Amino acid sequence: MNHYKQLFQLPEAIHYLNAAYMSPLLRSVEEAGYQALIKKRNPTQIKPVDFFTTAARVKGLFAQLVQASTQQIAIIPSASYGLMTAIKNLPTNQGSKVLVVSDEFPSGYYTAERWCLEHGQSIAVVPAPEVHSERGALWNQQILAAIDDSCTAIVISTIHWADGTIFDLETIGEACQKHNCHFIVDGTQSVGAMPIDVNTCRIDALVCAGYKWMMGPYASGLAYYSKKYNHGKPLEESWMNRANAENFAALTNYTSEYSEGAGRFNMGEFSSFNLMPMLEAALIQLLEWTPEMITAYVDELAKPLIAFCKANGFWVEEEDYRAKHLFSIGLPSGIERTDLLKALEEAQVYVSVRGEGIRVSLHLFNTQEDIQAFIDVLSKSL
Ligand SMILES: Cc1ncc(COP(=O)(O)O)c(C=O)c1O
Repeated sequence: MNHYKQLFQLPEAIHYLNAAYMSPLLRSVEEAGYQALIKKRNPTQIKPVDFFTTAARVKGLFAQLVQASTQQIAIIPSASYGLMTAIKNLPTNQGSKVLVVSDEFPSGYYTAERWCLEHGQSIAVVPAPEVHSERGALWNQQILAAIDDSCTAIVISTIHWADGTIFDLETIGEACQKHNCHFIVDGTQSVGAMPIDVNTCRIDALVCAGYKWMMGPYASGLAYYSKKYNHGKPLEESWMNRANAENFAALTNYTSEYSEGAGRFNMGEFSSFNLMPMLEAALIQLLEWTPEMITAYVDELAKPLIAFCKANGFWVEEEDYRAKHLFSIGLPSGIERTDLLKALEEAQVYVSVRGEGIRVSLHLFNTQEDIQAFIDVLSKSL
């Protein structure tokens, strides 16, 4: 067992190549959750200050992960919530459409679609090129070509959730700035496992569900909103997001002043006493590991699999546009997908079917044995 695997409690017999579906819990995260849960046995253990302190630390940790200032971070329950906040605060008089890429994750697509319907704008889809060679490079070029003065916003993920295509955020951010197009990014499938800097990418909103690559519990998430949003309208009016919230004795001295920065966009009950300590433990571990180290580890781990795929007619995205922790494998003709899935299940190799491909996702708990088990099944399917 590798050193990292011991920090989790995955059953020995399974090969879990599916963190993109949801990550397993770290032992440290489980323990934090257990301690948090039993704290409410006796409510006197939860002080008024506790409504704010853990959440503030969690924001600080996420800020480090994405190179932002803590003030610009908000706590959200889901990516859809964070995306809706970003979209609802778009200007209605600056453009006529919102860009997305094909097969964008539904939380992003539906959010953009509804806003467009409500504001007489159209949704424009930049389709994935139907080629096998230079696909990622071409897709990125087409996205760049689509950004012009008619775009109110682009809603895109850091990498494609289904196939791991890397979107060149720095170049897209530059084009967005030039054309006054809001840059709304869903980081759910990479933040934690891949480095990101919201400043160099000029991102306006970066939204992340916490239960995948941030290794937190379900229904916990974090978002960065640039200063552009500091006077925006939140989705709900929680007492906790007002400037006087920490003074429990004077909450009905109603104030129109919100908490600073992106604080107004926190979800109601953001103290989330059970989930925040778990997310905190997860982020502490991630920052200790660093996304750079995780990327390097999974890149090395995947090498025999990539070599096998290339040698045997399975399609994988080219190096520069393939996320190292999440990528899709296209099957050569002649392999029956249902038979392959059955064989994978029998071998206890867990991957996902997304679109046409088999989505593989890797983390530090994965070992060479997991990769070999997957290769063995692919090999037998030929
Ligand atoms: C890119 C991406 N965004 C968001 C989510 C989850 O969305 P939500 O938090 O709205 O349920 C997923 C889940 O697979 C995803 O892949």
